[in-house]
Amino acid sequence: MSDAAALLLARHGDAARADVALILGSGLGALADAVQDAIITPYAELPGFPVATVSGHAGRLVIGLLAGRRVAVLQGRAHVYEGTPPEQLAVGVRTAAALGARTLLATNAAGSLRAEVPPGHLMAIADHINLLGINPLTGPNDEAIGPRFVGLGDAYDAEIRAHLHASAAAAGVPLAEGVYLAVAGPSFETPAEIRAFRTLGADAVGMSTVPEVIAARHAGLRVGAISAITNLAEGMSDVPLSHEQTLTSAVDGARALQILLTTALPELP
Ligand code: HPA
Repeated sequence: MSDAAALLLARHGDAARADVALILGSGLGALADAVQDAIITPYAELPGFPVATVSGHAGRLVIGLLAGRRVAVLQGRAHVYEGTPPEQLAVGVRTAAALGARTLLATNAAGSLRAEVPPGHLMAIADHINLLGINPLTGPNDEAIGPRFVGLGDAYDAEIRAHLHASAAAAGVPLAEGVYLAVAGPSFETPAEIRAFRTLGADAVGMSTVPEVIAARHAGLRVGAISAITNLAEGMSDVPLSHEQTLTSAVDGARALQILLTTALPELP
């Protein structure tokens, strides 16, 4: 078991258990405030956890009740561009799995490659393209967690995706669907890269999520993932891209995400 999970179970017993892991991306952390009976632990207290260094990422694990489900909320994440070693990008998900999570819901802020999916809208991730240049499973394999080689043909669970769409329709929240392409960053893309990524089949671009999804599939978790679109990708609009722009625009997505997730959680597979 992960050292962090052992510590949490020793401190809090069964109150530290959860069945859904939720990762909240840039500017999307507010949902963690809605967790009831919350056990809040800064990542700095959790052995093995990378400490998130980016503004907009609180860097704490919040365990408790959300919409009637026991959740382990990773409020903030580490990224490749922070210099986080690949295997450390798996620690949060593995900790949640050791606490009992069988499902991962990952969220992120992303740029849209489709003009009809503008800032403020949400996109369910149907598949990904990993251009991060790393894989969190690189290195010795821990057979106790999962197999050496992991299939990703069904990484984004079809039943969870259908449930997200049904929940979005019930809540009146527009929800697109598409392919998420992950780059290492921290620079944003060039217009030529965005044109190339569109040719590759990408609908949204961001700097996260893929490592956690791979780690979750390795550990046998079912995965759903949602991008909150904060901007049209570089070259598609005149709005200059910056982290501040991402955080400001994430506010609308965060509101939609809160409605969608609280609607989806009670019956989430
Ligand atoms: N590119 C990469 N990452 C991002 C973007 C983008 O346009 N928007 C939010 N995160």
